[in-house]
Amino acid sequence: MVIKHYYSLRKLNTFGLDVNAEKFAEFHSEADLQSLLNAGIRPIRILGGGSNLLLTENLTGLIIKNEIKGIKIIAETEGEIIVSIGGGEVWHELVLWALENNYGGLENLSLIPGSVGAAPIQNIGAYGVELKDIFQRLEAVSVDSGKIKTFDKEACQFGYRMSIFKNELKGKYVITRVHLRLTKKHEINIEYGAIRNILTSKKIINPTIQDVSEAVIEIRQSKLPDPEEIGNSGSFFKNPVISKGQFQRLEKENPEVVYYKLENDQYKIPAGWLIEKAGWKGKRMGGAGCHEKQALVLVNHGNATGTEIRNLANKIQYDVMEKFGVGLIPEVNIW
Ligand code: EPU
Repeated sequence: MVIKHYYSLRKLNTFGLDVNAEKFAEFHSEADLQSLLNAGIRPIRILGGGSNLLLTENLTGLIIKNEIKGIKIIAETEGEIIVSIGGGEVWHELVLWALENNYGGLENLSLIPGSVGAAPIQNIGAYGVELKDIFQRLEAVSVDSGKIKTFDKEACQFGYRMSIFKNELKGKYVITRVHLRLTKKHEINIEYGAIRNILTSKKIINPTIQDVSEAVIEIRQSKLPDPEEIGNSGSFFKNPVISKGQFQRLEKENPEVVYYKLENDQYKIPAGWLIEKAGWKGKRMGGAGCHEKQALVLVNHGNATGTEIRNLANKIQYDVMEKFGVGLIPEVNIW
């Protein structure tokens, strides 16, 4: 296995930030990974697709990238399959594989950037579906012991853009394989209004999983910038959840506020709405910007540094707090 020195991560993060790793290596199998962990170089950080990551400085220690590949059906019944996927597979390529073979469950998660191994870490979600809805179990290697451990759904402690791997086990395990439960008899989920609107406009009454995927791709492409064209990492912040009292004050001053009522008298407010109302949509600060079509997405206009993007994020957090009294928490990992 080759360990590279002072290796540029520019092509390995979707913000396109030019930051060096003191040491960098890829692993293609569990055995590869175990020998890298055994080399004793610390700190050690794990890179997936680099699509949920803001790099603010050159990194010391060892950065390792998951390149474990393979998509394999390991169990099958009349109605469903269990598929085992190497953590280094590209998420959307898995979605395409499922659509080609007519396996359902991934269509609403079409075109999400990133790798399969990173998907459980923040329980990726879009258009009414989250990873946890199709998740069966995963295998991960302990950074400390090098041993392989299996985590079932409960052990992963999935929440909104959250799991145990982003919380108490942060940096402690490398997710090597993910097992998902996909359908052969499909349950179509078109509860998200924009998907329904597209299907109606195309006069599709009984949509297939392929129709749903096409609708999702159409929505994403109309709002979300393509990282190949303009550096970004999707939603930069999580949508904040606030109490009833906070919500009532917000609604009194802003009757047009967009919200989703949750259980336990809590309210989720789209961060994009708050950021837009705070005046940041389409604005720039140096090379960093707030996207003109979706204010929740921060972009690199070409020559931004990670620090510039972080400064913009800080300013947005400050203004949203000043104007609405609501705190925004980044969804992306900041290194
Ligand atoms: N909105 C605005 N202005 C904006 C953006 C949004 O007012 O600039 C308001 C609109 O009213 C809109 C509402 O916010 O109806 C919701 O916007 P959208 O449907 O685009 O979804 P979101 O809440 O901004 C979340 C996820 C996305 C996911 C979409 C669709 C988070 C942090 N983001 O965004 O996930 O694709 O829902 O399900 O939960 C990602 O995580 O990287 C990501 C893109």
